[in-house]
Amino acid sequence: MKVLITGGAGYIGSTIASACADAGITPVILDNLATGRQEYLSHRSAYHGDIADGPLIDRIFTEHPDLSAVIHCAALSTVPESTTAPVLYYRENLAGTIALTEHLLRNGCRRLLFASSAAVYGTTATTVTETDSLAPASPYARTKAGCEAFLHDTGAATGLAVIAMRYANPIGTDPLLRTGLQVDKPTHLLGRLISAAEEGTPFTLMGSDWPTRDGSGLRDFIHVWDLATAHVHALQRFDEATTESPFLALNISSGTGTTVRELAHAFQGATGHTIELNEAPARPGDVAGFTLDNTLAGHLLGWSPKLTVTQAIHHAMEWRPVRTRMLT
Ligand SMILES: NC(=O)c1ccc[n+]([C@@H]2O[C@H](COP(=O)([O-])OP(=O)(O)OC[C@H]3O[C@@H](n4cnc5c(N)ncnc54)[C@H](O)[C@@H]3O)[C@@H](O)[C@H]2O)c1
Repeated sequence: MKVLITGGAGYIGSTIASACADAGITPVILDNLATGRQEYLSHRSAYHGDIADGPLIDRIFTEHPDLSAVIHCAALSTVPESTTAPVLYYRENLAGTIALTEHLLRNGCRRLLFASSAAVYGTTATTVTETDSLAPASPYARTKAGCEAFLHDTGAATGLAVIAMRYANPIGTDPLLRTGLQVDKPTHLLGRLISAAEEGTPFTLMGSDWPTRDGSGLRDFIHVWDLATAHVHALQRFDEATTESPFLALNISSGTGTTVRELAHAFQGATGHTIELNEAPARPGDVAGFTLDNTLAGHLLGWSPKLTVTQAIHHAMEWRPVRTRMLT
């Protein structure tokens, strides 16, 4: 099997490419390197360009007529940036996905895995399932929900079947350290803990009176390798999973919650670093958080997450020096 991965030079797409290759599925990458890294493409069949570039997509399908599916990871995904640059985000994510889909349909593509996000839910529930209503709370999240709506309608009207993979919060790195997070100082929670440990600065816990087991926010962290292997399972079971409907949404998550305080303790336990924890009020727009029920993905894909938060912390720490050597 051969698969086209858009955004395959990025954090998640490159990890999915490695998981595919390990499973005997040949990845072909399309990436404009907006945030992706050339270094991740050296051993891959890769095209440098934009998802909206029709002639380029035509060329890829001409040169790889045996592509049997597309995994669409290419997107801009920084929530604060999306609030100050909505035109950019709607153009790159939503208009880009519409253009890409048009090019895929012209080239006979029948299977699309779409990188969606738990951010489409924006819920106050503590556990969400795929049938819960969507309430995306940022321009970024609205581009993801908009893509889902567009792909749902396109699936109903064409021969394209779509699985929207709604990712929880990915952390960690490919356990073989072939690729990982590109940025030196990631702003997600684990990144902030790593910075606090490396710089000897305190970690500020925003919000400590949420209705959770320890008052800190609840998150659903998934090891990025588990997230990547979900795509391998989805490719292998794609036609069975989409028999009943050409559009399927699946939560790709650990299924279990970790509070921010628990993550901080797990980090200290795994790394031996002692970090000073400060408490500050929640920021406007913060939410208590939720976990994503992954029962449907388990049932339809025969997939379940295998790796723990502690393993993700270890892999993220092992990646740090490798990243420095590879990317600077
Ligand atoms: N990282 C997360 O926490 C998270 C959570 C949920 C969903 N997602 C989604 O997963 C996907 C991958 O995210 P990531 O964390 O790997 O981000 P990333 O920035 O590391 O990767 C995105 C890749 O897409 C490429 N790209 C962007 N726009 C493009 C375009 N117009 N044409 C071609 N290539 C383009 C970038 O160069 C980059 O390589 C995104 O769709 C994102 O919205 C990410």
